[in-house]
Amino acid sequence: MKIKVAETAGFCFGVKRAVDKVYQLIEEGVSPIYTLGPIIHNEEVVSDLTQKGVQVISEDDLPCLNRGTVVIRSHGVGKHIYDLLRKTGLDYVDVTCPFVLKIHRIVEKESNDGKQIVIFGDPDHPEVKGICGWCNGPYTVLSGKEETEHFTPVPGKELCVVSQTTFNYNKFKELVEILSKKSYYNNVLNISNILNTICNATEERQKEAKNIAGEVDTMLVIGGRRSSNTQKLFEICKEECGNTYYIQTPVDLDSEMFHHSSYVGITAGASTPKKIIEEVQEHVRIKF
Ligand code: F3S
Repeated sequence: MKIKVAETAGFCFGVKRAVDKVYQLIEEGVSPIYTLGPIIHNEEVVSDLTQKGVQVISEDDLPCLNRGTVVIRSHGVGKHIYDLLRKTGLDYVDVTCPFVLKIHRIVEKESNDGKQIVIFGDPDHPEVKGICGWCNGPYTVLSGKEETEHFTPVPGKELCVVSQTTFNYNKFKELVEILSKKSYYNNVLNISNILNTICNATEERQKEAKNIAGEVDTMLVIGGRRSSNTQKLFEICKEECGNTYYIQTPVDLDSEMFHHSSYVGITAGASTPKKIIEEVQEHVRIKF
């Protein structure tokens, strides 16, 4: 069985930085440590941290805490969370990915300048919720074609378009195309206000995954079920290779996946530890 593992598979810079920071705090003896939501969408890492005493909390828990260090994860949070943290007097460590922070600064400035913000992304994703929390005025989250076709801007407002860092680049281009075909385009949407804020790490991972999926007989996409960037990788690979499977660990592997396969491709989402990618590769090599 020939196996090709994507070079871009696994932890991206922002996730690695966030996870390393929590382990560093543990080593330094900081206690108690709280993370605002799971630090990454990976159950193994989160349960290892839980065993080491790190507690996952939600925004609603913040007013009830009177001591400890709160870690803001790479997804980032809205402005009101910083205000709340300052009010409670809790220590906090901000490991929001710099690429996400950049979007916060853009939407804050552009909405202060009177523009309506359009965010291409998943409205339920924490990163998008955080971005919305920096808009000082009207904003809209558009996740797909249909919504974009039905979108009508607030009268008299110019638009500023950004995207979730893990958004699919082809989809971004498609939605921009839809917006630019609308009759209001010339009045409210200036090309300089369409900002492709998709992270390079995501783009590179998606491109490499697409190329590999186009070459192999079976494609494996490893990642947590709730990881949006893994779900997008899966969609991209599935378009190229019908025999694409979404797995979390080697336990999910099944001989059915490798029927008539002689060439297997492997990629993984940004929150998948290297160890799991290696275990999957080893399993495929030995067992199938
Ligand atoms: Fe940051 Fe890009 Fe990762 S935005 S968290 S480096 S996917």
